[in-house]
Amino acid sequence: MKKIIEVEVKTRKVDFSRCATDLLAVGVFSDAKGLDKLNGELNKKLGGGIERLIKLGDFKGKDETSAVVYGNADIGAERVLLVGLGEKKKATLDTVRKASACVAKKAVEMKLENISVALHRAVGGRFELTEMGRVMAEGIYFGSYRYDEFVTEGENGRLDSIKAELIDCDSAKTRKLDKGVSSGVVIGRAQSYARTLANRPANVMNPAKLAAVAKELAGSSKNLSCTVLDEKQMAAKGMGGVLAVGSGSENKPRFIVLRYSPGGRAAERRATIALVGKAITFDSGGISIKPAAKMDEMKLDKTGGIAVLGTMKAVSELKLPVNVYGIIPSAENMPSGTSYRPGDIITTFSGKTVEVQNTDAEGRMILCDAFSYADKENCDVIIDIATLTGSCRVALGKHMAGLMGNDERLIKQLQTASKNSGEKVWPMPSGDEYAEEMKSKIADLKNTGSKWGGACTAAAFLRQFVGERKWAHLDIAGMETFEKATEFAAQGSSGFGVRLLTTYLMNVVKTK
Ligand code: BES
Ligand code: MN
Ligand code: ZN
Repeated sequence: MKKIIEVEVKTRKVDFSRCATDLLAVGVFSDAKGLDKLNGELNKKLGGGIERLIKLGDFKGKDETSAVVYGNADIGAERVLLVGLGEKKKATLDTVRKASACVAKKAVEMKLENISVALHRAVGGRFELTEMGRVMAEGIYFGSYRYDEFVTEGENGRLDSIKAELIDCDSAKTRKLDKGVSSGVVIGRAQSYARTLANRPANVMNPAKLAAVAKELAGSSKNLSCTVLDEKQMAAKGMGGVLAVGSGSENKPRFIVLRYSPGGRAAERRATIALVGKAITFDSGGISIKPAAKMDEMKLDKTGGIAVLGTMKAVSELKLPVNVYGIIPSAENMPSGTSYRPGDIITTFSGKTVEVQNTDAEGRMILCDAFSYADKENCDVIIDIATLTGSCRVALGKHMAGLMGNDERLIKQLQTASKNSGEKVWPMPSGDEYAEEMKSKIADLKNTGSKWGGACTAAAFLRQFVGERKWAHLDIAGMETFEKATEFAAQGSSGFGVRLLTTYLMNVVKTK
């Protein structure tokens, strides 16, 4: 199997026009009156080339657009890439992140190994340079990513690595950028790691394989440990939900628990946060089988669990002073003679019984057992992330994840992390009205509600397994994948959640 493109991000103090590079990227706002200082300087050396391009209307500075101006003997760069930043007043850190991703994606497409990025210059003093360093590094990882492990016939080959530098002529500025780059690189790498694992198909990635990956991750880090329960161990504990969902497949389920502990005294006094991720390695629907069209997308039903895995990787590399559990129930949902059936009554790990009305509502069946596990381990906060319902995709489209929960403060913290990370969320209800729909006549609960509000009834089901814990739920169905490549992202897994959850944990550490 081919390795994914390696990425390196550094900072360098260098005069902009002297910087020798394959591609020098600079930002342009769509509503700017004239060129800013840096672009003006480059334009002059390029004999008015930038101005001409803009005057001719070939580039308007719209976001997610770019244009190449070729260099000459007066500047060090072979090419200058003008990157659109859109309207100045609308610009956020995510604008800079996405623009950086566009640059990296262009570089990979053009097979340019060395890129120099000066996007922070156009944005000026709006954001802290450290923050800009972080988002630029995250963006460069994001944009240069593509999934081609199994492609043996290359399109005339592709780069094995890309080397990016964030440049400035002022060393005080590069120092600040550099502080952000160090965390941006960790987060960017963790997200690419997650995207690759998520993109692997179900014949390659099954519950046991995922468990092996988690073990390998824990093995590479002193502050991480990993415990995996197989079906027998789950049966001994009474994890009826995970076992029921996994019962139809030859690929047996696993219950994966990662523990991150920073060591030292400080950690003992801190809250313990449980991140729970749904990892259905393939969701055929089971006996309530799904239609054939687009069923292949259901290899991405493990994305929530993998986002947790990626976050654990980032957290352990950042050495955050907080205790984190990564709990990943994993199963393959398949129809067979041993599958669980509609009508079955399952006793979950909590002791609560669930009447199965639809075997395709399997995510909640495995998550509820994971919640009980977190509860029994005395975790103070439970945050789950799951490709849980098609209804969430219908409600919010492919722009935001649904955010539910039982604690206002936790919800606000996740909304803040969402703003900082550029991974968008939108609050949705999951209260008593919805819980009412999940009552069964012959068991404590049933696993489907009425025709309406499926994302909310699913969350209302989950809510009943968190006990007194603070809980938030991210329904990422819709966010887990780019159906088509965009200017800044490759087709396939988006790695959604890694930035959001890591940022949440970074913020928790800051505020305590
Ligand atoms: N994994 C799916 C949800 C999903 C759908 C994720 C589309 C990504 C894209 C989930 O297990 C599921 O099948 N949910 C059902 C629940 C229903 C049977 C109550 C759904 O949303 O249709
Ligand atoms: Mn399903
Ligand atoms: Zn599913």
